[in-house]
Parts: sequence; structure tokens; C-alpha cells
Amino acid sequence: MNVLVIGNGGREHAILLALSKSKRVEKLYCMKGNAGTAEIAENVDVDYMNAEAVKAYALAHPEIDYYVVTPDDPLAIGLVDELESIGKRCFGPHKKAAVIESSKAFAKELMKKYKIPTAESQSFENYGDALEYVRKKGAPIVLKADGLALGKGVLVCETLQQAEEGLKEIMLDKAFGSAGNKIVVEEYMRGLKYNPGEEVSVLAFTDGKTIVPMITSCDHKRAYDGDKGLNTGGMGTFSPCPFWTEKLEKQVLKTIMIPTMQAMNAEGRKFKGCLYFGLMRTDSGMKVVEYNSRFGDPETQVVLPMLKTDLMDIFEAVTEERLSDVKIEWENGACVCVVLASGGYPISYAKGKEITVGDVGDAVLVHAGTAVKSGKLVTSGGRVLGVVAKGKDIEEARKKAYAAVENVSWENMHYRKDIGIKYREG
Ligand code: AMP
Ligand code: GLY
Repeated sequence: MNVLVIGNGGREHAILLALSKSKRVEKLYCMKGNAGTAEIAENVDVDYMNAEAVKAYALAHPEIDYYVVTPDDPLAIGLVDELESIGKRCFGPHKKAAVIESSKAFAKELMKKYKIPTAESQSFENYGDALEYVRKKGAPIVLKADGLALGKGVLVCETLQQAEEGLKEIMLDKAFGSAGNKIVVEEYMRGLKYNPGEEVSVLAFTDGKTIVPMITSCDHKRAYDGDKGLNTGGMGTFSPCPFWTEKLEKQVLKTIMIPTMQAMNAEGRKFKGCLYFGLMRTDSGMKVVEYNSRFGDPETQVVLPMLKTDLMDIFEAVTEERLSDVKIEWENGACVCVVLASGGYPISYAKGKEITVGDVGDAVLVHAGTAVKSGKLVTSGGRVLGVVAKGKDIEEARKKAYAAVENVSWENMHYRKDIGIKYREG
């Protein structure tokens, strides 16, 4: 089979690396890709947010058998529906189902209606009503812009003053554009043992009939060590989550994952693809923080290297709604991904810096914001590379990843030194 993956980041490179191990995949393509994807796939320079352009490309390339639509924005505009309308087979949810991520208000209503555990909340389109509610509830309180905002549309407010300012920023000043036309005001959830939050990302394959959780992972979202600084797209991940147990997985399947799949079916929005559950362990049990309609970035970078089963077999089984036939197996051990970012990320940073790479041992460099210019590997984004290493446990994987990091550099490279150190005692 010839397979095209849509997207540009580390997550897409990680998916391509997993597909490149498939016995059934002959040639890989990436739209648009980066310097890393170019090493294992043919990069295709088409704007994937332009559905007409993607369809024209697909029609002109009948040799491509299968499309993997990965990022949230093409899913939200219905790129899977568009490709299917011209007879192409895809992995990824339809537009109707992708709304579980593209509208936080929809997701909250769904959870309320089907009694899926989550923080109590109210949605508002009117600023005055939202302000009144925020004042009534007091701080700490969480504000979420309804629409897609590059993962930045959530404000965790510790004081009422912060909440009032945040509300104004989102609803009146439109800091996140039209994503802030509607707002979700949510109760602040406390972690069971650690604060802020005790979070775990559980990605799951689902064909709408069966839902199979992958191994768990944890993301470090803040820019600096000790969870300081601004929220980013993710500065590193590790797998598995130390507090996860088989018993917890059974419970989460029963109270959250299966009910979510069934709720989407009941709403006429069957979800097929990778459904991402952002969960928090709170003093009143496991609750949903957010749903994503796609693989996580950089969670995918630590989850897929542990997959033993052929990823293409799973993708096709999801498309054909026979996921229950596939036995999905994982390696034992652990995996760590340290993200190397451009200095100044997530605010402002330089691009075009030459990257030098020495011996990284058996660690794998997963590319995100990289490009090749005049034959040289250069930075082209905020998050540039993920250094991924496996080990018998998180500590061993961590050591290998950081040993490899020592041999990668460019001017003003920035990374966190504490990836993998979190929720240790379980
Ligand atoms: P989200 O984009 O919804 O995942 O939110 C970003 C981050 O904000 C989460 O990963 C949490 O750390 C935090 N957060 C979101 N909602 C809540 C909540 N209700 N209580 C506490 N922290 C939250
Ligand atoms: N790492 C969080 C996300 O993919 O949304």
C-alpha cells in the first residue's frame, strides 16, 4: 500500500516511522512534512487546509491507497469527508465527530447529557452572563474558549481578578479570535496527590463499535522546569503514566471511554479514528479534562514506538469497522521524549538556525520544525526536534534521551531537564 499522512509535526513523523515498519506499506507520503519526514516519505507541497487542492492532488495520484488525516484543523473542516466523497480511504473522524474537540461547549454538553465524569461547567455566548457566573462561583476557576486555539485557549485563574481579566481577553478583546465567541466556565479540579493537576493522556483506537486504549503517557505542557512558564504545545512526554494500573484502566473504560463512544453513536456522530482522552485523577475519581479528535503531540512520539502490532493493520481495521478482530500488543518498558525547542518559544523565536547532530546512540530524532536549506539541516519552528529513547523503565529511558540531547545543538536551543520526573511515587 501507498499511504499519505497529512500534517507537519513530530506526531506525523512518529506515525510515519511506525508505518515505515509495516510489512504492508510500500511507499509513504507526507503533506506537507518536514526534514525528518522527507527521509522516509515523499513530502507533498499542498496546503492541507484547502480541501479542493487536496482532492485534486488525490485524484491525480490514484497510486495512493490510504490517507491518514492527523491534525485537528483539517479534521474540523471535514477533510476526511471530502476525501471519502471522491472514494479515498482514510483514518480519522468525520467532521460531525471531530466536533468533540473543535467545540469544547459540545464536549461539555455531551458529558453532561451522558453522565461522563468531568468538571462542572456552564457555557456562555454573552459576556455579561459569563461575568455574573464567574463572580458567583469565585476563584480558582477555569476559562476555556470554545473553539480551536492551538492549545492556548484555556486559562486556569487563581484569583477572581485574573478570571475577570481573562474573560474580557477571550470574549471582548478576542485574544483567540472567533474561538472565543463562546466560552466554557469550568470548576477547578484538584489532583488527588499533586497540584496543579494529575493528568494522564490516554489515546484510544476506536471504530465506533470497539474502543481500545493505547498505553498511557504524560505530557509536560509548561515551557520551563518545575512546570513554570507559559503553556506550550508540549515540552516532552513519557510513557507509561506511573499512577496508571490495570484496575484504573478497567474503571476508566467503563465510566469514561465506552460511554463516550456510545454517546457519540447515540448523537449520530460515530467516531472512527484516534480518540484522545485528557484525564485527571482528582479527589473524586478520574475525570475528563478534554477530548481530542486525534493523536496527541508529543504523546504519539512515546506511544507508537512501543506498539508491536502493525499500525497499518489497525488503521484499516478502524476504517472497515472490524477493530475487535485485531490483537493490539505493546512492548514492556518505558519511553521518553525530550522536546528541543527554539529559545524564546512559545512567544517569539528565530528560525533558520543550523542544527548539528552527533552520536545519539539508539535514541531517535523525531522532527517537528525542521527544514533543509542549502543542504543543511535548520530550525523552522518553535518545537524543533523530539529526542525519543526507550528503556526498561522511565529512568533508563530518560538517561538515554538526555545523553543523546548532549549531542544535538543549535544557537539558543532550549529544553526542559525534568522530563519524566512527575507522579513518581504513584
Ligand atoms: P485543556 O486544553 O482543556 O487540556 O486545558 C489545558 C490545561 O489546563 C490542562 O492540561 C490542565 O492542566 C488545565 N486545566 C484544564 N481544565 C482544568 C480544570 N477544570 N481544572 C484544573 N485544571 C484544568
Ligand atoms: N499534547 C497535547 C495535545 O496533543 O493536545
